[in-house]
Amino acid sequence: MIRALALVLEPIIPCHQIQRPISWQEQFGRQAPLDVEVGFGLGEFLIRSARENPQRDYVGIEQNWERICKALESIAKIKGTAGPRALSNIRILKVDARLAFERLFHPESIEKVYCLFPCPWPKKAHVRHRLFSADFLRLLNSRLKPRGEVKILTDFLAFVQWIEGQIPDTGFQIRRETVKPRYDTKFERKWRREGQEEFSELTLMKERHSAVPLKEDVPLKAYEVKDFHPSRFRLKNQTGDISVIFKDMIFDSAQKRAMIHVVVAEQTLTQHFWIVVFEKERGWRICGADGQNLLPTEGLARALELVYEAAVNSMVNS
Ligand SMILES: C[S@@+](CC[C@H](N)C(=O)[O-])C[C@H]1O[C@@H](n2cnc3c(N)ncnc32)[C@H](O)[C@@H]1O
Repeated sequence: MIRALALVLEPIIPCHQIQRPISWQEQFGRQAPLDVEVGFGLGEFLIRSARENPQRDYVGIEQNWERICKALESIAKIKGTAGPRALSNIRILKVDARLAFERLFHPESIEKVYCLFPCPWPKKAHVRHRLFSADFLRLLNSRLKPRGEVKILTDFLAFVQWIEGQIPDTGFQIRRETVKPRYDTKFERKWRREGQEEFSELTLMKERHSAVPLKEDVPLKAYEVKDFHPSRFRLKNQTGDISVIFKDMIFDSAQKRAMIHVVVAEQTLTQHFWIVVFEKERGWRICGADGQNLLPTEGLARALELVYEAAVNSMVNS
């Protein structure tokens, strides 16, 4: 049973636990052209592409766990009939696509990026949520190999025009075509049921390189303080590019150990971070609690620093 589950989950890459950026060569055990699908939904196109092109490797990025499970079921079914080596050219990342391209892919490593029916966020107030802003396009460009391509399919004309407006200074040239349904994904079928028989296909061709550096892990420090007074500990929330919001503190007086829960929000990432403060022979130590599945970011480093400052203040105010 456990073995069967492990096999089903095999395509998922535990990106929090392995070295970043990821060596896709190591993950796939070979050197092959690398394609990425963003927001693969139920995985129809990802799976079909991987079956039809066994000489290429495919990474699918999706945030929605329910959809990922359905894609994993489909992959497992195919492996069940075609053998366990089938579809060994697919890996899945369950993260925000922006974070994935910022941290998990080396510059100039990808040949093609696909995105079928990205959320168009049609309301004016929600436009800022759209992927494919100029910043995101520069990021994609930097991770693409020379002459790499991005293909975007959409049913929504205002979104096409918005993307076209983002293109200047991203290093891409854009081509727009009207195409008949041909991808057979859940959302293509949905729009066809509603009567749409033509879609816009955008091809973004890399002409110039846009350099966007990798976001690297930030080493998380441990702090020492002479004394710690939980009853006087006050952690002030910080908001801005990095927000650190204090949620809770649990103090075990017998063990002389505090667990502090903060939520850390950065541009593409929100993480729940538990920080532990415990008594040592001389003084108290402040560090991240063990066993958390987190990315060591600037935000987590800032949270530790704020807890340290608040711990120092808890002594000063005595
Ligand atoms: C409208 S659906 C399209 C799904 C699929 N491509 C299809 O054609 O049926 C958009 C998908 O993109 C995913 N998504 C949206 N924003 C994302 C992001 N920033 N990172 C990863 N996936 C994202 C959503 O979870 C959703 O499954």
